[in-house]
Amino acid sequence: MLRRTLLAAARSAGLRRTIEAAPVTRGVVRRFIAGETTADALETTRELRSDGLLVTLDHLGEDTLDAKQAEKTVQAYEELIDQLPKGAEVSVKLTALGQSFDEDLALANARRICAAAGRAGTTVTLDMEEHTTVASTLRILAALREEHPDTGAVIQAYLRRAEEYCAGLAHAGSRVRLCKGAYAAPAEVAFQSAGEIDKSYVRCMKVLMAGSGYPMLATHDPRLIEIADALRVINERPFTTFEYQMLYGIRPNEQRRLAGTGAQVRVYVPYGGEWYGYMMRRLAERPANLAFFLRSFTTK
Ligand code: FDA
Repeated sequence: MLRRTLLAAARSAGLRRTIEAAPVTRGVVRRFIAGETTADALETTRELRSDGLLVTLDHLGEDTLDAKQAEKTVQAYEELIDQLPKGAEVSVKLTALGQSFDEDLALANARRICAAAGRAGTTVTLDMEEHTTVASTLRILAALREEHPDTGAVIQAYLRRAEEYCAGLAHAGSRVRLCKGAYAAPAEVAFQSAGEIDKSYVRCMKVLMAGSGYPMLATHDPRLIEIADALRVINERPFTTFEYQMLYGIRPNEQRRLAGTGAQVRVYVPYGGEWYGYMMRRLAERPANLAFFLRSFTTK
């Protein structure tokens, strides 16, 4: 119930304006977000790299309804990619590139980001957003992969079709990030209970780890990480053939512990001024974060 309310709030423009204008301490937002500027993002990247972690950077922004704003997002990615150190790539939300009002524009914008990444010797992964965008995102992914086959996909295990999507993407050269899914999706298209979502995640992992692609297992869930390790052994996968991924600020000790076992661990690092939607989804995942967030309003 609380999760649904927070996810609905994540889409409310009015609430967004109120919360963004409130004197929220930098500390609260900074727990999950690297900062507002490219320089902040690069500094956090260097710190994580020096701890042996890989990085994927997300320039915050989504649901853009304006071609000029989408253009600014492309330019922000181009500026970032030019300065990325080795071991860092980028994650991109297609709705920040115009997907909600012009799929062709979103594809053209994503092509520019992929081209910049290609020149810099790095990769792009397309985030997966609301269930209504899945078909369009998979179309754009297929078009991008014609020229940039290393473009990464994200599959949300809460989708009833997740296992089928994974089977279609488990081929050589295919980078696939598997996550549980962070948006509100109706029962017709998505599993609703945590148990069903976890079981779907395991089925998807089995497909990806047995396949010949490059799985990117994005979860903080200790049970799923244990199962992933068992699948690594069963499928005789060297650590170089897949990676774990976690969000910046969430289970940072576990990120370092896993990397210490020899596994590749990539941290998803969001940065930029448009933190509202991202923050609200993190709050929806964990009520304890909500208490922490609300306290910052009363203690300021
Ligand atoms: P779960 O939510 O069950 O959490 C397991 C444990 O992790 C918790 O018990 C807690 O210890 C810790 N934890 C999890 N979330 C926390 C939080 N917010 N604060 C503090 N602790 C927390 N989703 C999506 O729909 N599209 C996408 O493109 C992506 N991309 C993406 C990339 C990467 C690298 C990650 C790690 C995640 C995503 N997600 C995403 C988000 C994902 O769908 C999911 O909502 C979160 O990862 C939380 O799910 P867990 O698998 O961690 O399990």
